[in-house]
Amino acid sequence: MPPTKRTTGGLRSQAWWDNAGNPEMTALYLERFLNYGLTPAELQSGRPIIGIAQTGNDLVPCNRHHLALADRVKDGIRDGGGIPFEFPVHPLQETGKRPTAALDRNLAYLGLVEVLYGYPLDGVVLTTGCDKTTPACLTAAATVNIPAIVLSGGPMLNGYHDGMRTGSGLVIWQSKRLLAGGQIDYDEYMARVAASAPSIGHCNTMGTALSMNSLAEALGMSLPGCAAIPAPYRERAQMAYDTGHRVVAMVREDLTPRKVMTRQAFENAIVCASAIAASTNVPIHINAIARHVGVPLSNHDWQRVGSDIPVLVNLAPAGEFLGEDFYRAGGVPAVLRSLLAAGHLHGDAMTVSGRTLAENLDGVPPADPQVIRPCHDPVAARGGLLVMSGNLFDSAVMKTSVITDDFRARYLPRPGDPPVFELRAIVFDGPEDYHAHIEDPELGIDQDCILVIRYTGPIGYPGSAEVVNMEVPAALIQRGVNALPTLGDGRQSGTSDAPSILNASPEAAVGGNLAILRTGDRIRVDLDNARVDVLLPDEEIAARWAEYTPPALENQTPWQEIYRSTVGQLDSGGCLELAVSYQDLVHTKGIPRDSH
Ligand code: FES
Ligand code: MG
Repeated sequence: MPPTKRTTGGLRSQAWWDNAGNPEMTALYLERFLNYGLTPAELQSGRPIIGIAQTGNDLVPCNRHHLALADRVKDGIRDGGGIPFEFPVHPLQETGKRPTAALDRNLAYLGLVEVLYGYPLDGVVLTTGCDKTTPACLTAAATVNIPAIVLSGGPMLNGYHDGMRTGSGLVIWQSKRLLAGGQIDYDEYMARVAASAPSIGHCNTMGTALSMNSLAEALGMSLPGCAAIPAPYRERAQMAYDTGHRVVAMVREDLTPRKVMTRQAFENAIVCASAIAASTNVPIHINAIARHVGVPLSNHDWQRVGSDIPVLVNLAPAGEFLGEDFYRAGGVPAVLRSLLAAGHLHGDAMTVSGRTLAENLDGVPPADPQVIRPCHDPVAARGGLLVMSGNLFDSAVMKTSVITDDFRARYLPRPGDPPVFELRAIVFDGPEDYHAHIEDPELGIDQDCILVIRYTGPIGYPGSAEVVNMEVPAALIQRGVNALPTLGDGRQSGTSDAPSILNASPEAAVGGNLAILRTGDRIRVDLDNARVDVLLPDEEIAARWAEYTPPALENQTPWQEIYRSTVGQLDSGGCLELAVSYQDLVHTKGIPRDSH
């Protein structure tokens, strides 16, 4: 057993700076930090040492302005009586990292756990923004359980092109269709895409970034109003200062993540997710955070708690507006205010402000109803997820808000018919197979088809890729069919508006029945009963498994091999399973052994 020391009510950093039983070690721990001007008296003054987990860098443009914001965080920490230490987090950029940033969420998690646990830190500011940065930071803070506060980076300003709003991601999917249909050329395509990135900040649609930052606020992990402030606004830098100032007091109050992220807080996050029409990626990340903080949460909780909640926020991709509009309309506090008044939230959930959710919302003015609608006149009566099951998988999700009247009219033309429809499967083994064959006329793809993609889950890809939102063949677009239902064991971009059944678990690569599906099979989708079934007798399914040869899964890096050896499925958060048993490190494991 390694000898561990426990702090007795004092700061854990004192076990480094003021190691009473071992003055030589104290000197060794202090010495190197003096080389840029810190003084022993300063470090031994009993002031909280606050980490700033820096997710911004040149590889992560979405979070890059955190490099500048950190100066205001440091000002706040100093004025609050703490001492700041900024350090880097493994880069997590959604569009640039191959094969997918999802592979690296757990790598950043592991790295951050080691830093938060192994260095003399009493609290931490988590700088978040791009999709996976928020869950990577929150899962690590949950595991270690030192006082932690989220500073969102904020969305980019609204983009415009020809006077129309260009939303991040969404404009890419929409313009791809126009390019495929011959309505625009490549230069125009590029101009539209560039127009959607007009400033520093993360995606300005309600994609995964803005969704996860909004849910961090709904969980109580950021100061009220933090999530929606656009990245370049002065209020963003002011929020950085306030966040740094506040975390020092949180250390003195011992307000840890486990005191904030309770079951009530997660239910509040689920309700908020429905109201903002959050990305389909958020159940994965929120379920992962819940597991690391020891709160049991499943997709069934999402359906039970979230499916009757109205969509209030009229933001792309589900609605019209963008992040700047969301902020001006009142942001997350305005949404929560309406939800609380309608009795949908646990108002007594504690937050990092030191006040309850209801106390934070006291005095928040009503929202601009164009952008954030009232509960009695919502964008859609029901948000949330439909959690589906059947003989192809145990669990998959479909965003309720994509089951539009148009969708129903196309597949259920006779009013009063139950919402059950049958589709012909077109099956692709990953995105390379899809790109190579989607235009193949032999497949005879028409509007009675469902596009299926497999081997794209956590183990198959590896990491689970955002590839389930598949575009339809150009010939179909030219006939006016812009989207088909899709199904897969991967994910889809939170900025996509496609009617997809995704995150199917178990994935094909671990024996899910998607593996034995063939092009031409009939699939029945039953929306009322939330079922998706391939219309094959059990004997046929068994016979196909008997002759099944699994595809070889090649690991290209050591991390891919480690990841595949321990990652779970998407319905349980895609966590490193071996990591989940490590809970509340500062209280269950004490202080790590000395370094020398
Ligand atoms: Fe980074 Fe959307 S790609 S926030
Ligand atoms: Mg994405």
